[in-house]
Amino acid sequence: MTHGTTAGGTGGGTRVLVVGATGAVGGLAAGMLADRGASVALAGRDRPRLEELSGRTGGCPARSFDAYDLDACTELAPWAARSLGGLDAVVVAVGVAGFGPAEDVPGAVAEHLMAVNALAPMAVARGALRALGAESVLAVVTGAVVDGPVRGTADYTAAKSALAAWLGVVRREQRGRGISVMDVRLPHLDTGFADRAVTGRPPALPPGLDAATEVERRLVAPVLARREGR
Ligand SMILES: NC(=O)c1ccc[n+]([C@@H]2O[C@H](COP(=O)([O-])OP(=O)(O)OC[C@H]3O[C@@H](n4cnc5c(N)ncnc54)[C@H](OP(=O)(O)O)[C@@H]3O)[C@@H](O)[C@H]2O)c1
Repeated sequence: MTHGTTAGGTGGGTRVLVVGATGAVGGLAAGMLADRGASVALAGRDRPRLEELSGRTGGCPARSFDAYDLDACTELAPWAARSLGGLDAVVVAVGVAGFGPAEDVPGAVAEHLMAVNALAPMAVARGALRALGAESVLAVVTGAVVDGPVRGTADYTAAKSALAAWLGVVRREQRGRGISVMDVRLPHLDTGFADRAVTGRPPALPPGLDAATEVERRLVAPVLARREGR
């Protein structure tokens, strides 16, 4: 799989778990990391897509999970560490959009947005903190909404902001342990993410930025650079 990677570290020898690998951002990150010589383990919900991805990355280990099974989320990183003989980085790119005025969002949808965008990534990260070795990286995708809320995204923004706050505390807790905690606040990308919303229609948005360029620049290159201590 080739994605025209440019800057950043080499990735050779780095053992990485990518969670949400069946999505656009996760799939790009997994491909770029594998292209750079990293040993990759994949986790995603969509089994056929996961198997296809695993085949394209040399038959790397793959495991399916659902965001609602938080214990299964927490078990992903320990599984990857067993599968790869250790773990140097975990990338979490799980999420779902939801739109509409706050007063119109049904309770079940609000719960779904919080589960997929906050509780599941936190559960994955909890397992990662137990499985990662020294000089390792935990990179979790949140979003630019944390810094600039947009009308019609109250529950999605609240979930991403909860995740960002949680990561801020974890970053402090991990100082001295050698685990670098990244909160990756991606901007609006051209992945079609907003069109897969679980409820409502997206507000008028400018064209999304090129996903491959942004994933390389904001996620893959910094993960490898931090891993290499640069
Ligand atoms: N694209 C953007 O404009 C943008 C901007 C800022 C932040 N982000 C964030 O970037 C991350 C990835 O976005 P993307 O563009 O790659 O979207 P995507 O292609 O829709 O990927 C979302 C990922 O989350 C997984 N997921 C959704 N619901 C799940 C559930 N119940 N259980 C397990 N996995 C579940 C999806 O699994 P399936 O493949 O099985 O559906 C997929 O792997 C998300 O956290 C998103 O909030 C995206």
